[in-house]
Amino acid sequence: MNFENIIVSDQNGLATITINRPTKLNALNRATIEELSDAFHDLEADSSIKAIILTGSGEKAFVAGADIAEFANFSMEQGSELAKQGQEMLFNFMENSTTPILAAINGFALGGGLELAMACHFRIASENAKMGLPEVSLGVIPGYGGTQRLPQLVGKGKAMELMMTAGMISAEDAKVCGLVNYVVSQEELMPLAEKLASKILRNSPRAISGAIRAVNANFEKGINGFEVEIDEFGACFGTDDFKEGTRAFLEKRKPNFIGK
Ligand code: COA
Repeated sequence: MNFENIIVSDQNGLATITINRPTKLNALNRATIEELSDAFHDLEADSSIKAIILTGSGEKAFVAGADIAEFANFSMEQGSELAKQGQEMLFNFMENSTTPILAAINGFALGGGLELAMACHFRIASENAKMGLPEVSLGVIPGYGGTQRLPQLVGKGKAMELMMTAGMISAEDAKVCGLVNYVVSQEELMPLAEKLASKILRNSPRAISGAIRAVNANFEKGINGFEVEIDEFGACFGTDDFKEGTRAFLEKRKPNFIGK
């Protein structure tokens, strides 16, 4: 598939999506959101893809936010629709994707950019990265799930502080509060992302998708995550991957998972 605003590549089961609007610091306009949605849907449907890295092009930004120029004159209805469509077609889809998605934050991750990183399953960052939800400085609030996912990741008080002050935090501070898992130099960022992805690739895709569903259940209102875990755990026993994983262990060899 041909895209204008993103670059998608894959090698040996690992796909990389690079948001590629460097002159606009990779800001998320509607076309970019639609292309990202198409790419994530395609990759989720492709059983040969076992993990996805999401990053930004250039040395300055992961994504500097939703495209302010595009929504500056929106009405209330258009504002609601922007948030609803974005959440449904991209941000929620990513969070619920059963293919693991890792954000490699290579610079500014602000507003919709941080929300995009938070919709990934986990995040790593380069030392120059800066993160924040500055929406209130524009007279608006985060609309792509930021008010929900930031408190889940860093706790309510820190999330309130970050949103109310509209401030940016450094990659190191983001690591301290649990927003990112690792901080490395810019040169080391993609190698680390690939190293983490290669560890994921060794494991059962079927079990990983069950783990994602069970963890996500913890954050869904009205759902008992422990019950989802029991169901997902039990379902694993009926899979080829479970038979292969346990047999390989007992035969002292590496497993060859097929993801079923
Ligand atoms: N939406 C649209 N365009 C954006 C953008 C955004 N969120 N963030 C950056 N850009 C554009 C700038 O308008 C500029 O375009 P131009 O060269 O055509 O004027 C280009 O990207 C470079 O940005 P610039 O502001 O010149 O870079 P900087 O290094 O001086 O500042 C930031 C970097 C990230 C601090 C600054 O761009 C910024 O504050 N961006 C907005 C962040 C934000 O509020 N995001 C939340 C949106 S809801």
